Amino acid sequence: MLILGLETSCDETAAALVTADGAIRASVVSHQADLHARYGGVVLEVASRRHLELAVPVVETALEQAGAALADVDAVAVTEGPGLIGALLVGLATAKAIAFARRLPLIPVDHLHGHVASLYLQPDPLEPPFLCLLASGGHTLLAEVEDRAGYRPIGQTLDDAAGEAFDKGARLLGLGYPGGAALERLAAAGDPAAHPFPAAMAGKPGHDFSFSGLKTALRYAIDRHPDEHHRADLAASYQAAIVRSLVDRAAGALEATGHTTLALVGGVAANRALRGALEARCAALGVRFRAAPMALCADNAAMIASAARFTPPVPFPRYLDRDAYASVA
Ligand code: KG4
Ligand code: ZN
Repeated sequence: MLILGLETSCDETAAALVTADGAIRASVVSHQADLHARYGGVVLEVASRRHLELAVPVVETALEQAGAALADVDAVAVTEGPGLIGALLVGLATAKAIAFARRLPLIPVDHLHGHVASLYLQPDPLEPPFLCLLASGGHTLLAEVEDRAGYRPIGQTLDDAAGEAFDKGARLLGLGYPGGAALERLAAAGDPAAHPFPAAMAGKPGHDFSFSGLKTALRYAIDRHPDEHHRADLAASYQAAIVRSLVDRAAGALEATGHTTLALVGGVAANRALRGALEARCAALGVRFRAAPMALCADNAAMIASAARFTPPVPFPRYLDRDAYASVA
């Protein structure tokens, strides 16, 4: 059983081939970051057009990498939402066309389920139950995962996502787009205690997040300390505030739910300061910590094919009228 996965929810065009037992035979990600950098963010129309150009080539490259042919594929998995609607539609139309031509089933996947399912791939698949912190550019949430078929959100961001906070902070610091990784690099040379930023939602009940106040605090701090030699300290302090908030809220949710495993997924999971801080807090709490493999944190299609293993397929040809959705209902 070989699943072809497609992911086009934002600005990565990705295809992957994954087996029924979760082995990655190929995973190809084509980034559009350079294309959007000059606009300071993803431009929907530009992203959709580029997906259209790249969708078939990334599928061909994935097949080549796996040494497989389309004839070897048993099902086609695709991100149906949430994401940028025009971008999603390109992936969905491509997946439908491939599946229809070969009379294969289509497996429509929820993008966030995909991020969680990045933990279910070989060589070290995670077994539920666990508490999952999902931090990406579009979403930040805490979810209880009881089985591999889904996840149950118990808290989410009330405004910006954690990745968005990184990107907006990076922009204020003149680091370009997307800025998460660049901000982390700048922060490495700075003192995280130099500028005390407010810990958003600290002490508030529940498991929600809020990051938009932090961005405003950074703007004021930059106004107060505009010279170049403050930038690394500002980046380190800003990153520390985001990390502190994520770690504190995750710790609160661990305590409230009694889960003994915490997992971290999503683009922001690539942040080493966050991985280190969560690992340390989990060790102190006697909780097992698992982060998604570095290569599977940011958007990719292997995680979509992985989630498809636990999602009901739609048989040929009943999927032709499936539609993409921009946000969670
Ligand atoms: O999961 P993802 O690829 O796309 C969404 O589903 O949103 O996440 C992308 C986000 C971006 O905001 C990016 O800046 C952030 O992940 N990111 C990072 C790092 N690498 C990527 N944030 C902090 N530190 C990093 N090293
Ligand atoms: Zn994502």
